[in-house]
Amino acid sequence: MKEELEALLLDIEQRSFDSADAVEDFRIEYLGRQGKMKDLMAQFREVAPEHKRELGPLLNKVKSSVEEKVSTEKASFNKKSTASSSGIDSSRPAGGVPHGTHHPLKVVRREILDIFSNMGFGVVEGPEIEDDWHVFSGLNFPPEHPARDMQDTFFVERDPDLLLRTHTSSVQVREMERREPPMRIIMPGRVFRNEAISARAHCMFHQIEGLYIDENVSFADLKQTLLHFAQSFFGPETKIRLRPSYFPFTEPSAEVDVYWGLETEVDKRITKGTGWLEILGCGMVDPNVLEASGIDSKKYTGFAFGMGIERITMLRYQIGDLRLFFENDKRFLDQFAGER
Ligand code: PHE
Repeated sequence: MKEELEALLLDIEQRSFDSADAVEDFRIEYLGRQGKMKDLMAQFREVAPEHKRELGPLLNKVKSSVEEKVSTEKASFNKKSTASSSGIDSSRPAGGVPHGTHHPLKVVRREILDIFSNMGFGVVEGPEIEDDWHVFSGLNFPPEHPARDMQDTFFVERDPDLLLRTHTSSVQVREMERREPPMRIIMPGRVFRNEAISARAHCMFHQIEGLYIDENVSFADLKQTLLHFAQSFFGPETKIRLRPSYFPFTEPSAEVDVYWGLETEVDKRITKGTGWLEILGCGMVDPNVLEASGIDSKKYTGFAFGMGIERITMLRYQIGDLRLFFENDKRFLDQFAGER
């Protein structure tokens, strides 16, 4: 029996297979219910005890050699079949499905609205096609004011009273006409101005306007609200300053700058050497404006402010050209993939 076992070991070692099925046949030949191992076991039981000690390990070796050969041969056929059948490796983890990204203007708009919502401002929207009253007259623009000029405003040809709103302050007028104070609202939207398109200007852009009217609203409230906004948006150390300015609908009026710093050449260039950057316009709502919308200016005061979303977004991400926002260049948009 010893010779027989040694011959089988040699046979096992030398076998080669051309398919996974052939390996399986080999397995059955040895380990199957009617296989060679079964016969060998039966023979082994008849062997004289003094020979068992020598033959036992040899018999075990036959069994383990078959098992080992079967498992390595099967594995190699498996690998070959996944690699060759379609060129697809089904064992690879699935790649991600590409998602669209949020537009940077949308990211910033949402962030600004969140900051003011947390202060109790409700979001209100209004129409983009407006009449003269809501964009100009109701906001105390004198009849000859240059903002009404054909150069700034897109008028609707068949009706000179209709125009594309040049600022979101029109929504302010609509709300004041519609409701009684107190009101605390924030008004995002698209605005249109007849300007040549360049890196700094576009005929369409986005603003966010804020309005707060109640008894005893003061300029100090305005300043504190805007400081809180600037620090929430640009960072807790942010400093702001207010410069006197003019808008027909606010008195007094101011422009707000944030301190940007003068550390790099770029800082110097974008702040024109001052370290300060303008971010928005604001002021106390002119009593004429309150009265024009039927609000008692003896009882109520209010503040308003307005900012350009493009401008704030350009500052936040250091974007040098306004036109990038509207060209849908994937290489530009993909840079905001992580923003929410
Ligand atoms: N409407 C002004 C503009 O478009 C911004 C502004 C809003 C200023 C509210 C003061 C108060 O430039």
